[in-house]
Amino acid sequence: MADSPSPPSWSISSMANSAIQFLRLPVLASSGLAVIASGILYFKQNELIYPRNVPVDARTNVPKPRQFGITDYEDLQIPTPDGESLHALFIRPSKKRPTRNITVMMFHGNAGNIGHRIPIAKVLEETLGCNVLMLEYRGYGLSTGVPDENGLKIDAQTGLDYIRERAETRDSQIIIYGQSLGGAVAINLVANNQDHGDIRGMILENTFLSIRKLIPTVFPPARYLARFCHQYWISEEILPKITDIPILFLSGLKDELVPPPNMTQLFAVCKANRKVWRTLPNGGHNDSVAEPGYFEHIHSFVMEEVLGERK
Ligand SMILES: *[C@@H]1O[C@H](CO)[C@@H](O)[C@H](O)[C@H]1NC(C)=O
Ligand SMILES: *[C@@H]1O[C@H](CO)[C@@H](O)[C@H](O)[C@H]1NC(C)=O
Ligand SMILES: *[C@@H]1O[C@H](CO)[C@@H](O)[C@H](O)[C@H]1NC(C)=O
Repeated sequence: MADSPSPPSWSISSMANSAIQFLRLPVLASSGLAVIASGILYFKQNELIYPRNVPVDARTNVPKPRQFGITDYEDLQIPTPDGESLHALFIRPSKKRPTRNITVMMFHGNAGNIGHRIPIAKVLEETLGCNVLMLEYRGYGLSTGVPDENGLKIDAQTGLDYIRERAETRDSQIIIYGQSLGGAVAINLVANNQDHGDIRGMILENTFLSIRKLIPTVFPPARYLARFCHQYWISEEILPKITDIPILFLSGLKDELVPPPNMTQLFAVCKANRKVWRTLPNGGHNDSVAEPGYFEHIHSFVMEEVLGERK
């Protein structure tokens, strides 16, 4: 047979080659898997942080103010500068009490839609005699788009600009109210607009220090992946920038989702010259609003700190 043995060089290079192949395979495989895993996580994380399909019909079934006995309102679609269309409700005071030159902008938590919060708007409108603008973030309810941190910041600014431009609300005193995730949205918006002089108060309910700090306990499926977290909402760093706007902190002491010390800590780092701390001793994450005293705390905050009607 004329076959000569393979030259050693070939053999060596072939061995080296297959060794490299062998070494390379798992590396490729694991980095491939990592890419897939982090892709799923990226997607999942968004679903976890912004569960806009909870409850299941939240993207289509948005209750209307009329269902709650509110007749003087407008159903709006407000365009954002980056091409989304935000569903919003503008509710006028029902004149059961003297109306006031105040507009409350409401930022909701991370599940559901604005329709689910209409009863809150109704109490605010009736007890404060104020206008209420309820804004649905992109990707929620009847708004277009997909939520993310940057997008929600644009949405909040769009809502505020809408109030500033609308003839009826242009000269009103604005109060920004945020629950849970909405608290982070509110903090960011107020920090960026405090020099304008028209925001006269902020109300924060059961909100968190930052998303990253929530991940291990609130989003356990993402526990090992906090480093992949691309949604920050660093309220504990932004809040101290707000100095001239009175802030009300409403903390449900039975909050099972965001441990109440998060609120205590936010209150501690807050540098606003007027800040008010109020607790709801039996308030859970989602039901603090139904606790006795909740709206009384808001009412006295608005009378004393926003309108300056101190006794
Ligand atoms: C509160 O809402 C969150 C979603 O924001 C949900 O995961 C949780 O189950 C709710 N808790 C209660 C007690 O309803
Ligand atoms: C409403 O409040 C703003 C800001 O304090 C003020 O400039 C404006 O004149 C008030 N408008 C009315 C109708 O009272
Ligand atoms: C804030 O909440 C997170 C999530 O549960 C928790 O890990 C963290 O310890 C809390 N921080 C404070 C200061 O309470």
